Amino acid sequence: MRSRHKILSCIFILTIMGATMAVTIQLPEPPGAEMSVHRAIEERRSRRGYGGSGITLEQASELLWATSGITDPGGRFRAAPSAGATYPIDTYFLVEDVQSLAPGIYRYVVQSHSLELLVEGSFAGKLADAALGQSSLREASAVICLFGIYERTKARYGDRAYQYVHMEIGHIGQNIYLVAEALDLSTVAIGAFHDDRVSSLFDVDGVPLYLMPIGPRAGDAKN
Ligand SMILES: Cc1cc2nc3c(=O)[nH]c(=O)nc-3n(C[C@H](O)[C@H](O)[C@H](O)COP(=O)(O)O)c2cc1C
Repeated sequence: MRSRHKILSCIFILTIMGATMAVTIQLPEPPGAEMSVHRAIEERRSRRGYGGSGITLEQASELLWATSGITDPGGRFRAAPSAGATYPIDTYFLVEDVQSLAPGIYRYVVQSHSLELLVEGSFAGKLADAALGQSSLREASAVICLFGIYERTKARYGDRAYQYVHMEIGHIGQNIYLVAEALDLSTVAIGAFHDDRVSSLFDVDGVPLYLMPIGPRAGDAKN
């Protein structure tokens, strides 16, 4: 799929605001991932083997929706629970090999279920270097990168926010694990990395909490 990084012009919306031009990609509706919750929990594993054939835009849509997609008609509540619905965790998507997406770093825009391109290029190698050389990051088709913005929760709950944000990252991480399982993809929750080196790659608000590589399964390396 790497050679098929031809970007579909029909899903690009170019927004010209003064001198800045943002590239936004509307994601397709999350198609669903059929597997019983029982089986997904039972079969879930941290999978560190990644094949080279990339993932589809529909699979990306389903996984991103599972992190923080809107799940109520009023647009207020999301896929994972959040203390006081303060939603302190933002999702970024590092793309190497995803159908119809150019390699680069994207921000997941919750309200519109879309991706905003922040910077184009291949960054998986640098991300792996910032995470003790973990090969799952280097070999994945994409990496879901979750950043915590403690101030959002602190404004309401003070220092209790530090516990709440760390509880919430677990909810989101588990959603990703279970959806990846149902889609027959690999993922693993990666928490071992140098915060400053990961942050320097992204230039966004917040503290990196979890990096979750995504890709087709290949011979699983277990720890
Ligand atoms: C907070 C946390 C941090 C983790 N960090 C890493 C990591 O940096 N690299 C990695 O390969 N696995 C990491 N893991 C995955 C664990 O190694 C894995 O969950 C454990 O071996 C149990 O295996 P299972 O997830 O297949 O049940 C992490 C898991 C958690 C919960």
